[in-house]
Amino acid sequence: MGLGLDLKLPWDLPTDFQFFQDVTTKTSDPQKRNATIMGRKTWESTPPEICPLPGRLNVVLTKANSLNISNDDNVLVCSSMESALEILAAEPYSMSIERVFVLGGGDLLRDYMNAPSCDAIHLTEIDISVPCDSFAPRVDTCLYRPWYSSSPTMENGTRYSFNTYVRRKDPVVGGVGTEEYWFLPKMVFERHEEFGYLNLIQNVISNGDMSDNGTTLSKFGSQMRFNLRKTFPLLSTKKVFWLGVVEEILQLIRCSTNLKKKGMWDNDGASEYLDSQEFSQVADMINKIKDSTNDRKIMLSACNPLDLKLSIPPCQTLAQFYVANGELSCQIYQSSIEASLGVPFSIAAYSLLTCIIAHVCDLVAGDFIHVIGEAYVNTADVKTIQKQLQISPKPFPILKINPEKTKIESFEDSDLELLLHKER
Ligand SMILES: NC(=O)c1ccc[n+]([C@@H]2O[C@H](COP(=O)([O-])OP(=O)(O)OC[C@H]3O[C@@H](n4cnc5c(N)ncnc54)[C@H](OP(=O)(O)O)[C@@H]3O)[C@@H](O)[C@H]2O)c1
Repeated sequence: MGLGLDLKLPWDLPTDFQFFQDVTTKTSDPQKRNATIMGRKTWESTPPEICPLPGRLNVVLTKANSLNISNDDNVLVCSSMESALEILAAEPYSMSIERVFVLGGGDLLRDYMNAPSCDAIHLTEIDISVPCDSFAPRVDTCLYRPWYSSSPTMENGTRYSFNTYVRRKDPVVGGVGTEEYWFLPKMVFERHEEFGYLNLIQNVISNGDMSDNGTTLSKFGSQMRFNLRKTFPLLSTKKVFWLGVVEEILQLIRCSTNLKKKGMWDNDGASEYLDSQEFSQVADMINKIKDSTNDRKIMLSACNPLDLKLSIPPCQTLAQFYVANGELSCQIYQSSIEASLGVPFSIAAYSLLTCIIAHVCDLVAGDFIHVIGEAYVNTADVKTIQKQLQISPKPFPILKINPEKTKIESFEDSDLELLLHKER
């Protein structure tokens, strides 16, 4: 949680700086601007070419009377956080300020990051070890839930990710739509990964191809991405039958030996190998993940060509696993799937499989990527989907896996628990 050293930032991340500029400057009302509150040392460490921060009201906290700031409409000096918030809540600022951001440094964040008036924390988590002399407190995960966490990105040799945490809101008993996250800047609000799914169903019902008999609408070719590092993508705008998800994946693990007969490996001479011995795809996959993290063909096929002869073929699923940086990611391909119930269920099921396999292989779960051939909805469900599209997503839950379990065959449903917040 280091913030700086010798009044400077110990890293050079232009994309992070751009995010900081965008999130603190942009407003939804063009007539308004945001306020940025900072400690005196942060003010003094801001490079002269961007000091005061342009397009924002700069509020500087100091207990000293001697701060030498020339008269500037963009700067306000206050002797305490309380007086700063009082001034901002009164006219004329109450009419012209949209949001208030506390920038730091350490003194301010220690006092206010976990305070009740703080709705959200935007934290760029930088994966390096460098000396620092100013520190922020840890995010109290009993108070905050992750809203969005980007997959890690590399810049100037440094790995980092963007994260937004929102203050936990307990649903009011009997209340309707009690959890609203309108206070987030639009550019952050829209980063919630559930919007990937909502855009998919919106696209199917608005632009889908109608089947000949008029019963379904479908779109061909889509991809969604979910980050499993901090949260678990159990969609929040739709009820997903979690116990069913768990049962499906535990069943897939138990039955993996029954999928041995044929699969997509037939073409490269693997059928002899499959026929010659009892073969568990899941066990084979786990061995490959543990033994050879550079294997780029770690596949699981839940697609039995014999089933294609049935009148209702199952949704064909092919999963590929990938290990890098101590993380396990999974991409699945599904040829045809119902988007209203089937897609949310599949997202949860294969994310769960990825998390379980990562757990037994001592890896961190990374990304889950869902590639869909045909996504379709029944025309009878269009009205229900339109209603669903009016609902705002809520923070995803956190998956807790029983740490005692290390063998994939030994998992039971009680070993997998979804929490709305991380336990201390
Ligand atoms: N990584 C980031 O995102 C980030 C963000 C901001 C800053 N930084 C880094 O953090 C470092 C500076 O932070 P810092 O922790 O050393 O100092 P700081 O918090 O910026 O400034 C401390 C000073 O602010 C004033 N102050 C703090 N709390 C106050 C309060 N409640 N009421 C009135 N005055 C208050 C006092 O000024 P007086 O002594 O004048 O009374 C205090 O000495 C720099 O290295 C900077 O680059 C990093």
